[in-house]
Amino acid sequence: MTSVLFVCLGNICRSPLAEALFIKHLDELKIRSNFIVDSAGTASFHLGELADNRTRQMAKKIHNLNITHKARQFKANDFFEFDYIVAMDKSNLQNILKLKPINAISKVVLMRHYDSMIQNEDAIPDPYHGKEEDFEEVHYMLTDCTFNFLKKIAFETNQ
Ligand code: 4NP
Repeated sequence: MTSVLFVCLGNICRSPLAEALFIKHLDELKIRSNFIVDSAGTASFHLGELADNRTRQMAKKIHNLNITHKARQFKANDFFEFDYIVAMDKSNLQNILKLKPINAISKVVLMRHYDSMIQNEDAIPDPYHGKEEDFEEVHYMLTDCTFNFLKKIAFETNQ
C-alpha cells in the first residue's frame, strides 16, 4: 500500500482537487486499491467544509468529478501515516516542515516540480482570490502534475 497526502493552505481549492484528480488517474489505471489518498490544509479556516464551489464546478465541468472531501487540518501525526506529503507551494511546505517530528517517515515534495511543461516553478498558484480562469488554469496544471507524480511514485514503488 502507498499513501499520499496532498496539502495546501485552506484544503478547499487546490489539495482536494489534487486528491480527486490523483484518484481519477488511479481508477483509470485500475490501481486504486493499492493507494490511500487524502488531503489537508495547514490552516484551520475552513475545517469541515466542502471544497470551494468554484473548484467543484470546474472539476464537474472538465472531468465530471464530484469532490466530496471535507476540509481537515494537517497534523504532525500525518508524518507517520503517509509515504508522500505533496505541498502545493513553498509556504505550505514551510508550514508542513515546522510540524515535522524528528523521526518522521514521509517524503515531502512540491507538486509543481512534477509539471511536464514548465521547470523552475515551485507553486500551484492559490486561486482563492482569483477569477474563473485561475481555477481553470489550476485544474489543468493539477491534472498534469498529479499524473506525472503518479508515474514517478508508481515507478519508485514498483507498481
Ligand atoms: P487553498 O486556497 O489553499 O488552495 O484551499 C485557499 C482557500 C482559502 C483561503 C486561502 C487559500 N483563505 O484565506 O480562506
